[in-house]
Amino acid sequence: MLQNDLILRTLRGEKTERTPVWMMRQAGRYLPEYIAIRNKYGFFERCQTPALACEITIQPVDIVGVDAAILFSDILVVPQAMGLEVQLKENIGPLLPDPIKSIADLARVRVPDVDETLGYVFDAIKLIKQELNNRVPLIGFAGAPWTLLCYMVQGKGSKTFDEAKAFCFTQPELAHQLLQMITDTTIAYLKGQIKAGADVLQIFDSWGGLLSPADFELLSLQYIRQIVAAIKDDVPTIIFAKGAWHSLDAMAATGAAGLGIDWCIKPEMARQFAGKDITLQGNFDPAKLLSPIPVIEKEVKTMLQAFGPGRHIANLGHGILPNVPVDHARAFVNTVKEYQWS
Ligand code: CP3
Repeated sequence: MLQNDLILRTLRGEKTERTPVWMMRQAGRYLPEYIAIRNKYGFFERCQTPALACEITIQPVDIVGVDAAILFSDILVVPQAMGLEVQLKENIGPLLPDPIKSIADLARVRVPDVDETLGYVFDAIKLIKQELNNRVPLIGFAGAPWTLLCYMVQGKGSKTFDEAKAFCFTQPELAHQLLQMITDTTIAYLKGQIKAGADVLQIFDSWGGLLSPADFELLSLQYIRQIVAAIKDDVPTIIFAKGAWHSLDAMAATGAAGLGIDWCIKPEMARQFAGKDITLQGNFDPAKLLSPIPVIEKEVKTMLQAFGPGRHIANLGHGILPNVPVDHARAFVNTVKEYQWS
């Protein structure tokens, strides 16, 4: 039995003594303890070595006191397992030197045996569960098929992912073939994470908001729907589709237990779109953590008030920035934990 199951109860819609809190990208570069490990091992070495992934995953639980751990890994381990080379360039980001552009390129991509290619993730999860010793739940995750396609086709980060979009708009059949292959791999991958012990799963659609509402349904949501349908009866699932507030109603209808929202939508409006029977997660502007601590405390309270008690998991609207001081992150977490509903 988990000692702290606030997040699980909130995802079920149960009343809790307070709002739970964690931070997207909480295991990362703002922590000096993470940097110390980063200076010794390469990025994928950290992901592939269960003892390192375990240590990094638990750091924010010990250091900032969040109510959940999130597996240290990356969404790009899936394209890697599907046969693409993925590099992480320091201070630049992901680089896929041979992206998918044509039908010939698609022949290089496969739906892999996840135990063979991603077994190290499952081993990490088992070790983390053991080391957490039921203190807090463990969140597993995967990238949404659309967001993974963005990297697999564009080959690197982008503000617009225009090449990925052009691929989908000019070669729709190929695009859908690739999206379905990613979906099938992701379902097997997430089922493996559940079997290994993940308590909650989050689907990151970081670039969902680059699509029109109609294209979001066509290129993203119809695949997310398949993933949620395959896992929702085993563990609660959170969909975070950044910028895709226009489809909160459709995302709520997938059977997900929670929806992540960014800071560009009012909580009241997100609630109206999503309906009352789903938990919302978010939506503090990550850059606001650079404010003085008293400002952070005041703004966190404003956020909590806007969501109201119940059906809310406090979080950032996107990942924590590397230049956030640790005591600012801690102020964010502690303000949520100490908040009293009067
Ligand atoms: O703490 C956690 O949230 C768990 C670990 C985690 C990482 N990446 C570690 C990481 C998670 C959940 C991710 C998800 C991820 N990865 C997303 C979706 C969430 C989002 O932020 O939008 C995306 C788009 C990626 C792809 C990716 N990985 C990018 C664009 C980058 C470079 C830019 C950046 O944020 O640094 C990475 C590298 C990466 N993944 C780092 C970490 C801690 C930093 C690199 C390093 O420490 O060497």
